[in-house]
Amino acid sequence: MIKADCIVAGCRELATCRGPVPKRREALRDIGLIERAWVAGLDGTIVFVGTEDEFRKTVQPVEGAVRVEADGLVGFPGFVDSHTHLPFAGSRADEFSLRIQGWTYRELAAEGMGIRSTVRATRAASRDEIRDLCLVRLDEMLLHGTTTAEAKSGYGLNLPDEIKQLEAVREAAGRHPVDLIPTFMGAHEIPDEYSDRREDYIDLLIHTIGPAVRDQGLARFFDVFCEEGVFSPDETERLAEAALSAGFGLKVHTDEFVALGGTELAARLGAVSAEHLIAITDAGIAALAGSDTAAILLPNVPFFLMQEKKAPARRLIEAGAAVALATDFNPGSSMTSNMQWIVQLGVFQMHMTIEEALNAATANGAYAVREHGRAGRLEPGKNLDLVLADIPSVADLVYRLGRNPVKTVLKNGRVVVEDGRIIPPP
Ligand code: NIG
Ligand code: FE
Repeated sequence: MIKADCIVAGCRELATCRGPVPKRREALRDIGLIERAWVAGLDGTIVFVGTEDEFRKTVQPVEGAVRVEADGLVGFPGFVDSHTHLPFAGSRADEFSLRIQGWTYRELAAEGMGIRSTVRATRAASRDEIRDLCLVRLDEMLLHGTTTAEAKSGYGLNLPDEIKQLEAVREAAGRHPVDLIPTFMGAHEIPDEYSDRREDYIDLLIHTIGPAVRDQGLARFFDVFCEEGVFSPDETERLAEAALSAGFGLKVHTDEFVALGGTELAARLGAVSAEHLIAITDAGIAALAGSDTAAILLPNVPFFLMQEKKAPARRLIEAGAAVALATDFNPGSSMTSNMQWIVQLGVFQMHMTIEEALNAATANGAYAVREHGRAGRLEPGKNLDLVLADIPSVADLVYRLGRNPVKTVLKNGRVVVEDGRIIPPP
């Protein structure tokens, strides 16, 4: 018999999202649905997923095992949000009002607002303040079903403030059940003080800040914003080569507004992911389809920027790219951390199926931060990170808009949300 110290009994429907990752093409449509499903875990790891009959035959709960009644609830893996700018300070509500009046995001950036305004606010905040902001945001994420999230720096843009952001992430991660995957994004923008000597800033990233981040073990990935007016493909390549030889995994913000060849570059360099892809070309799609580089789509960005053009999710899926969905949570272009909303936008705005969107937000999200060995799928050997929602079927996750149906969240086999409320650690 298999021993278990945590039992989830009788989900009406369970989307396991099991099977090999990344999920491409038809495989992306299979969420491994089990009706009347039971899940069991030991020491935070899943040891069983199946029907009640199989459970009774094979699982032996240990004394004092936790039992969660999931009767009438729908279960799915905790969301993996593979692209966030979590550790920022300040607000850009003022800039948002200007956008409503017709200014574009890029016009505001050219006027010194945009990312640079959040840089000023983040530099002015202490590490503890940023950590506390992260903790509040992580509570919100968890209450909506996210159990793993990537977190990018990139609002410090100098040595002490980039380190401060990443230390805030590390401290927040130590105090919160949501797992955080830190990414160094000093290459998010050229800071004002380097505006007429951008080469010097690139050298600073390569020779000073990057090595410091690496030596302190503060980030797993290195991300570059390859875009017109930010970092050119040549600059991106120089930064990427340095990042890879320093041992970082590579992520690239590409084709958000203008296609410069950054996606093809990301695939050629073996990047873990290319992110945004709104303006991707046929060559970019082909490059991703033939690579291991995940295509992280961020559908709240065009929605939030009130922009017609969306990432071509259907064409990416049909070509065979490894499509993931994420929030891009940040104060300028995507002020949401709610992955349910992202799944809904994936369906409503990019014409993904509900199953494709769910897999993209869980199994493929985990792949896009190389956490698929433990997160994003409900199958033996993975973390018991499970969400229970009060909806009649998986489809209602998208069909029923504007309300949070999450009742219970288990993280590593511990109940961390119960009846829609956070349970503090014992
Ligand atoms: O992914 N594009 C670059 N970075 C963010 C926006 C950051 C900001 O506006 O503060 C993004 O959209
Ligand atoms: Fe981003």
